[in-house]
Amino acid sequence: MTTKSRIKRFSPLQRLSHIFLMITFLVQSATGLGRMYMETGFGQWLCWIFGGYEAAREVHIWVGIVMLGGLVLHACYLMFKIDWANFPKSLFGPDSMLPRGADIKEFFQHVAWFFGVRKPPAFDRWGYWEKFDYWAVFWGMVIIGVTGLLLAWPIAASRIMPGWGLNVALWVHRIEAILAMGHVFIIHFFIAHLRRHNFPLDRAMLEGSVNLDDARHERPAWIKRLESEGALSGLLVPEAVVGQRVVHYLIGFAAVAIGLFLLVGAIVNAPHIHL
Ligand code: HEM
Repeated sequence: MTTKSRIKRFSPLQRLSHIFLMITFLVQSATGLGRMYMETGFGQWLCWIFGGYEAAREVHIWVGIVMLGGLVLHACYLMFKIDWANFPKSLFGPDSMLPRGADIKEFFQHVAWFFGVRKPPAFDRWGYWEKFDYWAVFWGMVIIGVTGLLLAWPIAASRIMPGWGLNVALWVHRIEAILAMGHVFIIHFFIAHLRRHNFPLDRAMLEGSVNLDDARHERPAWIKRLESEGALSGLLVPEAVVGQRVVHYLIGFAAVAIGLFLLVGAIVNAPHIHL
């Protein structure tokens, strides 16, 4: 009999959305940095992969539009997921991504624990940093999407705004892109994959599940709640077969390697570009 040592955390649709975001974000980062660093060998090589300087722009715009389509679909998905019968109470339950007062308390308790002053917080299903990541993508995509569309069709855009507005749009797009890449390639990678239980790679988003013992240690309130509701056993799943795990590791490591390559390339070459 196979032991069910893992607990289900993400649905197939949620995992698919994450892969979609992973791929589109990496393409946007590579093509955007390619254009931004065109004066350097790093930028020229990135553009070459996508067919050259002009083609990199086309890829960036069309993948950007697909990415924004994903945001619209996700908003529709949320409309279906909301428990309208218990609205608005249902928005504030422990399975919701909406921030609640407990997140602020847990944040301060977590920081105090980093300094050895307090016990770690008993997290429920979502930690404050996961909610932060989720909402950062939401508002970040709106800012980067609106400015990106203005830059993609500058003549149409200049009919509704003064020309200098495009300069502002470029700077807002650029700064938001740097913020997003910095956050994902440094903070998100570090927190997701270098945490004690996850090192060297957190497979949760690829496999859909996490180890039960680790979850009991990291998120005791979640497991206790499921046990008291009698829902835990229904969520237990076995470890993925070896072949599947190998594929997950290959995909995960490839994505992390591409992100780190872009990060290091951007930092090392930064002194050689003129913005
Ligand atoms: C997370 C997603 C995105 C990232 C990381 C990103 C990154 C970048 C970067 C680094 C640049 C270069 C800025 C510069 O030259 O200084 C850029 C430019 C640009 N981006 Fe994005 N971008 C993203 C999403 C989008 C979206 C959704 C669109 C719209 C469809 C878009 C359209 C553009 C356009 C038109 C340019 C100007 C390209 C040029 O002419 O050089 N971007 N982006």
